[in-house]
Amino acid sequence: MTAIPQERRVVTAIPGPKSVELQARRLAAVAAGVGSTLPVFTARAGGGIIEDVDGNRLIDFGSGIAVTSVGASAEAVVRRASAQLADFTHTCFMVTPYEGYVEVCEQLAELTPGDHAKKSALFNSGAEAVENAVKIARAYTKRTAVVVFDHGYHGRTNLTMGMTAKNMPYKQGFGPFAPEVYRVPVAYGYRWPTGAENAGAEASAQAIDEISKQIGADNVAAIVIEPVLGEGGFIEPAKGFLPAIAQFAKDNGIVFVADEIQSGFCRTGQWFACEDEGIVPDLITTAKGIAGGLPLSAVTGRAEIMDAAHAGGLGGTYGGNPVACAGALGAIETMRELDLNGKAQRIEEVMKGRLAEMRSKLPNGDIIGDIRGRGAMIAIELVKSGTKDPAPEAAGALAKACHAEGVMVLTCGTYGNVLRFLPPLVIGEELLNEGLDVIEQAFGTL
Ligand SMILES: Cc1ncc(COP(=O)(O)O)c(C=O)c1O
Repeated sequence: MTAIPQERRVVTAIPGPKSVELQARRLAAVAAGVGSTLPVFTARAGGGIIEDVDGNRLIDFGSGIAVTSVGASAEAVVRRASAQLADFTHTCFMVTPYEGYVEVCEQLAELTPGDHAKKSALFNSGAEAVENAVKIARAYTKRTAVVVFDHGYHGRTNLTMGMTAKNMPYKQGFGPFAPEVYRVPVAYGYRWPTGAENAGAEASAQAIDEISKQIGADNVAAIVIEPVLGEGGFIEPAKGFLPAIAQFAKDNGIVFVADEIQSGFCRTGQWFACEDEGIVPDLITTAKGIAGGLPLSAVTGRAEIMDAAHAGGLGGTYGGNPVACAGALGAIETMRELDLNGKAQRIEEVMKGRLAEMRSKLPNGDIIGDIRGRGAMIAIELVKSGTKDPAPEAAGALAKACHAEGVMVLTCGTYGNVLRFLPPLVIGEELLNEGLDVIEQAFGTL
């Protein structure tokens, strides 16, 4: 574990003078299209803390967008990745293979849902994993259509942009997009017109009807869904929705793909979020939390589906890089040893309890329209008082107030009105509560 003191410390304005200087250099050298939530430059990070170049210590409620679940300098990740760095950095698995890649695939077979024979292929980014899941599903089914959902997010490459729902900032001006991608409704309980209790059954019926009538089930290679929708606003599809869609896929020879890039690897208090309703996906895409901050992603699934692509059809120069694989083995070791599923469940308990208390006791608490999520993937949806009208300005103002006080939080949601919390699973409970105190105080600044 890192030596960084696990305490919040604000010693300059945020961003401080050194960050401001670096930001000026960055603006001159880095393309404008690459944004940052908060232009505070990092010096060190670990546990639940990000320390900046000015010596401020921020409580981390972002984990670099759900990546550093084991912390940003976890002992086992650093140890294994450093040893691998010293041995060799790269050979390309497609040229001369190495054991770490195979071991990560073995771990994925063990950890992902279902006891059928499984195989994996490794890549670098989440988007690349999603692209490859589609390639594999198409090769297996010999069909072309891909079904995705309202509020879904799958990445920034051409195919995954097309699969992503939200236009701005992800798609605007970047088309045309890949063909044969079709979007259908998802059971967004909080905003379902006839109420959350009907959302699962009604949304699945609508989605299935649209797939059957507008696309034709026989044309569909894959249905791709996030078991908890991340960028779309931490939407947990209402109960019954995922099982109905998975069953429909099974009945129609469609490959059911769970995109667990954000929700996987203990984030929701289970190894994978789809376990919550007992879903066994045909393919599962993972990235982010898999390797403790090193770039690695995977497609894992039924061996007969994974083997449908011909030799040489999958891969890439860096896919399954040995250092990233070593990092993944260190991250998985940490997750098991520290019982990070249990830690995520405890984070949910603390966070939901405190957020519910804020909603009931704060004078403006009624702008918290919904508190949702699972494990350490928790969000509040902000609305205008007395309505369900989205309040993106409140989400932005709360985030800004938290940043100024040294708490890193992120926003998300189709309407930009969701404040999301993704602390490292190793965060201490005191730090977690202190971060929540700052969020509570931020409501007073609105
Ligand atoms: C569910 C999901 N899929 C895919 C991606 C894309 O991953 P990457 O940014 O590594 O390409 C993300 C990233 O946020 C994601 O949350």
